[in-house]
Amino acid sequence: MALRLRGAESLKLFNGLVLGVESSCDETSVAILDGTKVVVNIVSSQIAMHQEWGGVVPEAAARAHVENIIPCLDLALKTAKVSLDDIAGLAVTNRPGLVGALSVGVTMMKALAAVRDLPLVGGHHLEGHLLSAHFAQTHPEFPHVALIVSGGHTEIVLVSAPGHYAILGETIDDAAGEAFDKCARLLGIPYPGGRGLQELAFSGNPKAFHLPRSLAKDPFNFSFSGLKTAALRLVEREGSTANRADIAASVQAAIVDVLVTKVMAAVAEVAPVWGLALVGGVAANKPLRESLAQACAAKGLGFATPPMEFCTDNAAMIALAGSFRLAQGERDGSSLDVFPNSTLPSSVHQNQS
Ligand code: KG4
Ligand code: ZN
Repeated sequence: MALRLRGAESLKLFNGLVLGVESSCDETSVAILDGTKVVVNIVSSQIAMHQEWGGVVPEAAARAHVENIIPCLDLALKTAKVSLDDIAGLAVTNRPGLVGALSVGVTMMKALAAVRDLPLVGGHHLEGHLLSAHFAQTHPEFPHVALIVSGGHTEIVLVSAPGHYAILGETIDDAAGEAFDKCARLLGIPYPGGRGLQELAFSGNPKAFHLPRSLAKDPFNFSFSGLKTAALRLVEREGSTANRADIAASVQAAIVDVLVTKVMAAVAEVAPVWGLALVGGVAANKPLRESLAQACAAKGLGFATPPMEFCTDNAAMIALAGSFRLAQGERDGSSLDVFPNSTLPSSVHQNQS
């Protein structure tokens, strides 16, 4: 694969405190960042509300953001012991995500930018996840490969320099987090079931059942829909005698195995690179973190993954992506819009199979 690597570059950030807001899905979050130091990161989760329906209801999510966003802003300023006079820049997720949910954060931040005369940039949710690797103790260096695994995305990305992304592979159906959530639901674990499935799997045998590792011949793309169907058949076949912990452990092993195999193949393909960054909600999965840390160590590669609280959706990662964009001189005005779908900025697909 012919890829142009951009050599060692560093992440240049905005001077002064950056206020970030994230409201793309089911978390209302406000954070204040000083360089890569997170001064405060407030997350108000709507999970309990959406559990009733087994997933996110867009209209209900937008209404909850309207209720929560100002209290989150107040709490962030109070906790950080700063006022709006101390803020130098603003960043808000404007893509991709639920349009109604995104609009709540964007509208508030446009008003704040106008009233306080502050620079504002719209942030890409996935760029936020990618840059969240810089909250790890070991900062990733460039170029590196990143695995983004969340409820809506599963992508292998070559990060050749800050802002320069090439998508090497992605899921052709369900995201890894969706696979965790759907299989968890079969086992009676409430939405979003990734963490609950991991907890159940602790006492199970990962080799009890062999579940499919799909797209073995397609090196960097993923498919998780076959796993969900196989797990459904298994639960139906085992019935009331099912050992739920063994099923959970076998599901988790199948997801982790396929993620590790494919991302390490991608790292080998684009070598030499610094190593691997693991980001997104599923990056909170302990066996995945441990397996990738071991695989990278065995090959002498670097490995960076953020602390758990910055894996799932949070505004600190958006403030960081915004800080990077503000430092590049980017500015958005009162016409800043929201977009339900959007590929990573300046990204190209390397693998179109
Ligand atoms: O990044 P995120 O908060 O939201 C999206 O952008 O989608 O990711 C949420 C996903 C959910 O599917 C959730 O089940 C999964 O991350 N997740 C986990 C764990 N913690 C969260 N999956 C597996 N193991 C975990 N410990
Ligand atoms: Zn996310």
